[in-house]
Amino acid sequence: MNNVRPESMARITTAELANAFIDEQVKEVREQVGDKKVLLALSGGVDSSVVAALLIKAIGKQLVCVHVNHGLMRKGESEQVIEVFRNQLDANLIYIDATDRFLGLLEGVSEPEKKRKIIGGEFIKVFDEEASKLEGISFLAQGTIYPDIIESDGVKAHHNVGGLPEDMQFELVEPVKLLYKDEVRVVGKALGLPVSMVDRQPFPGPGLGVRCLGAITRDRLHALREADAILREEFDIAGLNLKVWQYFIAVPDVKSVGVRDGKRYEGWPAIIRAVNTTDAMSATIEEIPYELLHKITARITAEVEGINRVLYDLTPKPVGTIEWE
Ligand code: XMP
Repeated sequence: MNNVRPESMARITTAELANAFIDEQVKEVREQVGDKKVLLALSGGVDSSVVAALLIKAIGKQLVCVHVNHGLMRKGESEQVIEVFRNQLDANLIYIDATDRFLGLLEGVSEPEKKRKIIGGEFIKVFDEEASKLEGISFLAQGTIYPDIIESDGVKAHHNVGGLPEDMQFELVEPVKLLYKDEVRVVGKALGLPVSMVDRQPFPGPGLGVRCLGAITRDRLHALREADAILREEFDIAGLNLKVWQYFIAVPDVKSVGVRDGKRYEGWPAIIRAVNTTDAMSATIEEIPYELLHKITARITAEVEGINRVLYDLTPKPVGTIEWE
């Protein structure tokens, strides 16, 4: 398969078309891989999850998935990867909790680009270490999708394999590289992946690291994760998860005075961001009902240790970027 989508290729919009695609890819992957082993970095994002499910269908335990938890995942995400892939799909899954390594390296680092570099570099290191422990791996699977190829000239591929040791000569397996994101989601649903995984919002590689502003501390990261989980839960209940493109909490490294139980209570503000966009180049602000904003504020301030204010960011992009970083 080359890297250009044929004009005759129909957009995959239905379960029927998805199943035909899956059958074709299962056959192609089996032909390509034979009885060899394939390695995949499984982040839990849409693309790598769909590739994993597809390859499990094609080659079962010949696929070795490695999930690195960098400690910056949202609440419940690594648990869901384990539940879906190890427990439900019976995948060959290696789970590495590298939280202490990442948070140790990030201690005291406040500069955003430096944080990103540390997270990206350490991710490759952990993945390499695991890969080098495995024997007989001949292929590397990747969740490259068509926009990665046309927009960034293979940048994703470069990021994913860039740090692997030179002597590891992997051939690539990229079964969804000619698909657009919406098609990957349709294929994922046809493969039986949970909707919550297939319809997941975009989430930056450095995870909550870009939303826990300034130097990350465990207590503030914990507060961010809990507040974000409440926001997501309330958006699900209100049906906004289907309407809003991306929503999350950011917590700056700033404290203000508050009062709780009649005593002075210093805490961080939780900033809600909820945006709509088609391409992430520009974004508008979702009109959230005030009643819901009040409910979310009440829950976060009551349930999350360390948060004493909740703010709603009304800034469109431009001029604000989607992420606070
Ligand atoms: P900004 O903040 O630049 O973000 O308006 C635009 C979109 O990109 C997402 N984003 C990332 N996605 N890896 C990703 O895959 C990253 O490192 C990354 N950083 C930002 C952001 O969440 C938003 O959807």
